[in-house]
Amino acid sequence: MPILELKHVSRHFGGLLALEDVNMIVEVGKVVGLIGPNGAGKTTMINNISGLDHPTNGEILFQGQAIHKQTPHKITQIGITRTYQNIRLFGDMTAHDNLLIGQHARGRATLLESLFFLPRYLEEERTLRQRATELLAQFGLEHVTNTLAGTLSYGDQRRLEMARALAANPKLILLDEPTAGMNPTETHELGEQILRLRAMGITILVIEHDMSLIHQVCDEVYVLNFGCMIAQGTPTEIRANPLVIEAYLGVDEDSRSPRLHT
Ligand SMILES: Nc1ncnc2c1ncn2[C@@H]1O[C@H](COP(=O)(O)OP(=O)(O)OP(=O)(O)O)[C@@H](O)[C@H]1O
Ligand SMILES: [Mg+2]
Repeated sequence: MPILELKHVSRHFGGLLALEDVNMIVEVGKVVGLIGPNGAGKTTMINNISGLDHPTNGEILFQGQAIHKQTPHKITQIGITRTYQNIRLFGDMTAHDNLLIGQHARGRATLLESLFFLPRYLEEERTLRQRATELLAQFGLEHVTNTLAGTLSYGDQRRLEMARALAANPKLILLDEPTAGMNPTETHELGEQILRLRAMGITILVIEHDMSLIHQVCDEVYVLNFGCMIAQGTPTEIRANPLVIEAYLGVDEDSRSPRLHT
């Protein structure tokens, strides 16, 4: 059953076709990879799914419902969360407090109740704090619970972003280069985290340049090049696809410089 569908999605910035007639189906419970050279349109696609940006044409459906005109807040509420290629944490708040904010979309106490400290609010606050502590443990971040997010190592910041994406209890998580800046050991461990999320029934769409991670976690891979979806298949099929090899190894006719992302 599809959880996410892109139907003829285009996003043009003036004359630049960042996405052009893109179709994609993500089945529930799968880990789907999105790869492609620099500037292919990968982040633009995640921005459009998460409501940060909107398509020029086409439709995006989540559980059969059109979401391409919704706000980011509404999209988080209905079950889609994300991480960012350029990490966006609250740097002057602790790791724990970043997770409390991440759960904001889930809290049900009304403003009036929270103002008057009614029991439901207090109970909810306790549950949220407990959940933040559990998430820190799940991502191996207990030791930085009270550390300001801005002072964490790069790897810890990426892990905290992923924990925050999980905090709002999503059905679908969008990860934009979650292993950027990580060494091979950290990358493999993050892959194991992704597989644990899948085992919990969460669907994952992951943008990634590291093919070892793609092979470790992805059930299926889509390939974007210059805004167009040029291939789709298993990681093994994708690796052998001549169109994909050409897109990655294609040489600029003028400069003869490879376009491969390193
Ligand atoms: N807000 C914007 N205004 C104008 N052009 C944009 C905007 N956002 C993205 N683009 C352009 O759209 C194209 C696709 O960019 P995008 O960031 O989606 O690529 P990407 O596949 O994520 O690349 P990378 O691997 O480098 O992260 C690029 O040419 C980029 O310059
Ligand atoms: Mg990008």
